[in-house]
Amino acid sequence: MARTAELAPGQSRKFMLPIDGVEEECFVVNFRGEFYAYVNRCRHIPIPMDWVDNHFFEESGRYLMCQTHGALYQPQTGECLAGPAAACGKYLFRIALEVEHDRIYARAPREPIERGI
Ligand code: FES
Repeated sequence: MARTAELAPGQSRKFMLPIDGVEEECFVVNFRGEFYAYVNRCRHIPIPMDWVDNHFFEESGRYLMCQTHGALYQPQTGECLAGPAAACGKYLFRIALEVEHDRIYARAPREPIERGI
């Protein structure tokens, strides 16, 4: 899906992954040297988080932010820590990653993910 050297800390990249028979847009981020990936779908309203293409971190680089209404998510867990009440406490849908040598591989979740509101 990507090489580790292509994603410096603070950078992100989108990719497609088949989940439960549907191609889902996902993204991987490098947060302080560790890689995390999620389905690109806000937990407030099920729309992509990057209004500006491939822009997931807010200004300080400490949180992932949905560009539409500003929901803030913890990069390590995907938990929504602030923003619209309907999203707070919910988690982005996590994608398991494996890093082998310098390559990052994504694995689709075994459980179906929620697609509606
Ligand atoms: S759609 Fe993401 S915060 Fe509202």
